[in-house]
Amino acid sequence: MGTPQRKDDHIRFALENDVQCRASAGFDDVTLIHSSLPEMDLEDIRTETSLLGKKMDYPFIISAITGGSERAEGINKDLAILAERHNIGMSVGSQRAMIENESLRGTYEIRKYAPDILLFSNLGLAQIIGMDNGSISSLIDSIGADALAVHLNPLQEVLQPEGDTTFKGGLQRLRELKDDLGCPVIVKETGAGISMEVARLLSFLDGAEISGVGGTSFAAVEYYRAKNALQKHTANLFWDWGIPTVPSIIETKKHISTIIASGGVRNGMHIAKCLVLGASCAGLAQPFLSAVYNRPLTQASEYLDRMVHELRTTMFLTGADSVDELKSLPAVFHGRTREYLEERGFDLKQFSQRGV
Ligand SMILES: Cc1cc2nc3c(=O)[nH]c(=O)nc-3n(C[C@H](O)[C@H](O)[C@H](O)COP(=O)(O)O)c2cc1C
Repeated sequence: MGTPQRKDDHIRFALENDVQCRASAGFDDVTLIHSSLPEMDLEDIRTETSLLGKKMDYPFIISAITGGSERAEGINKDLAILAERHNIGMSVGSQRAMIENESLRGTYEIRKYAPDILLFSNLGLAQIIGMDNGSISSLIDSIGADALAVHLNPLQEVLQPEGDTTFKGGLQRLRELKDDLGCPVIVKETGAGISMEVARLLSFLDGAEISGVGGTSFAAVEYYRAKNALQKHTANLFWDWGIPTVPSIIETKKHISTIIASGGVRNGMHIAKCLVLGASCAGLAQPFLSAVYNRPLTQASEYLDRMVHELRTTMFLTGADSVDELKSLPAVFHGRTREYLEERGFDLKQFSQRGV
């Protein structure tokens, strides 16, 4: 199956089927501490932040979704207009389709709709292993991106029938790219999370989008795309494989300071929790895809405004009047997430007794 058809399948299955993880991202296991005395007016709250040197009005981005087909072109255009209107960052989806067929470049060219935003290029590790740095640099420049996100998606590649499972040499290629490219390079997962062991190996990079378990499951997408019983069985078994978003933020933060937290981020309170746990900003894919798909852009803007309202409400109720202030708040962990993090050697008092 060709890449454009596969990209359209991903969009179709993400919208028409329940491809969300059954396991939790862990947000319910994190309690922020209520402040009965915020000592500020709601209107004083500032949500601006910066990521990789670029200013954004809100601490979240539109994570990588698509490119490479006619349907994708329309989606990218709407997402770009939305991102520019609200001044948030955005990533295009994997540019693999563009490598295979240069005529698909237009489906990724969104700078005309979003001249000012922080824009990420997106390529898979399996692709960069087989490409030279010059070609990668031209792919980034051709869409006017500010940074490159290399997706690490071994789960997806091993489950999809046409998957590319040649990951050997990936670490070395990332090192060479980082040394050679003149722009920031980050890695991103696609829904299975990043561990502290992997983060340690990748600490020379400019950041990581952890994209943990708890949101869109690519195993679930592959379950619906499966053509035979073995593929279906395996995709079902690995539906929730990986590290949930909350522990993955904390594991990755041990070695990488700039973190984009995605995977099941669904409201403004989740965004606030990501920042308290150490993320620089949050990222959302599926919610933005369904907000723009076959709907007027005003509805997507309303969705975004609702999330900002939820974030500002959380900030007011925790007494944080800025994003930096939010990052210094305490949090208490419970249940499965607490058990997991303690077993992994984290002293959670660093969170629960912050500022005490
Ligand atoms: C339809 C769809 C297509 C995606 N395509 C890409 C992609 O091309 N490259 C990539 O790095 N991530 C891709 N992702 C993964 C997202 O960027 C994100 O990491 C993941 O969906 C978790 O976020 P969510 O729970 O908010 O959806 C895709 C996600 C969706 C829903």
